[in-house]
Amino acid sequence: MALEGLHCVKHALRFAPELVDEVRVSDRGAARALAERLAPDVADALLHRAVVADVAHHTGVEARARVPPVDDAVLGGRTAPVVLLDRPRSPGNAGAVVRVAAAAGASGVLTTGPLDPWHPSVLRGSAGLHYALPVLALDDPAGLTGPYVVLDADGDPDADLPPGAVLVVGTERDGVGADLRAHADVVLALPMRAGVSSLNLATATAAALYRRR
Ligand SMILES: C[S@@+](CC[C@H](N)C(=O)[O-])C[C@H]1O[C@@H](n2cnc3c(N)ncnc32)[C@H](O)[C@@H]1O
Repeated sequence: MALEGLHCVKHALRFAPELVDEVRVSDRGAARALAERLAPDVADALLHRAVVADVAHHTGVEARARVPPVDDAVLGGRTAPVVLLDRPRSPGNAGAVVRVAAAAGASGVLTTGPLDPWHPSVLRGSAGLHYALPVLALDDPAGLTGPYVVLDADGDPDADLPPGAVLVVGTERDGVGADLRAHADVVLALPMRAGVSSLNLATATAAALYRRR
């Protein structure tokens, strides 16, 4: 995987240093100064791996890292909700969900549909926080255990999000598909002012996860 920019490289080095193979910097002195200012905990690890090269990113830092082995323990029991993104279309939205899921302490992010959750554009949107929690595509979500909490504007604003829940978030245009909706134990709504039809899916995920926290 290509990691573009200091923040992306920083998160990979912080959460999964063993997967970061090579760091490229446009200037060693500038990279050290930037890393010591913005990511002092990983500055040595970054410089230790660094080779000087042409770097396109404006921070002058890029890296290559491997995708972690599939960690499917998250499909069974868990102590914090796992986010299940139903057929996301926008890599930026999917990346933003990974980022907020990592920040809020979710167990992982799972996706259905054709978008590869490890696509470089998704990784860019998460600022490299894919390396902080399991992120995987599911062929068939039916085997996922835990109460299914479907996020939908037409649901119950007082519904709970238990720690072991599967938080199901719908696709941009059509919302949660009928198959996953049929699985719902509860449908949770985030109340909105009259006239507003929906939140962006990453914003809705953030509100639901932080509401629980
Ligand atoms: C952009 S919305 C999809 C809108 C779509 N037109 C629909 O009918 O659901 C993407 C997803 O964000 C979540 N979402 C957005 N606004 C929400 C709200 N106010 N309450 C609960 N979930 C919401 C839902 O999971 C939804 O499927």
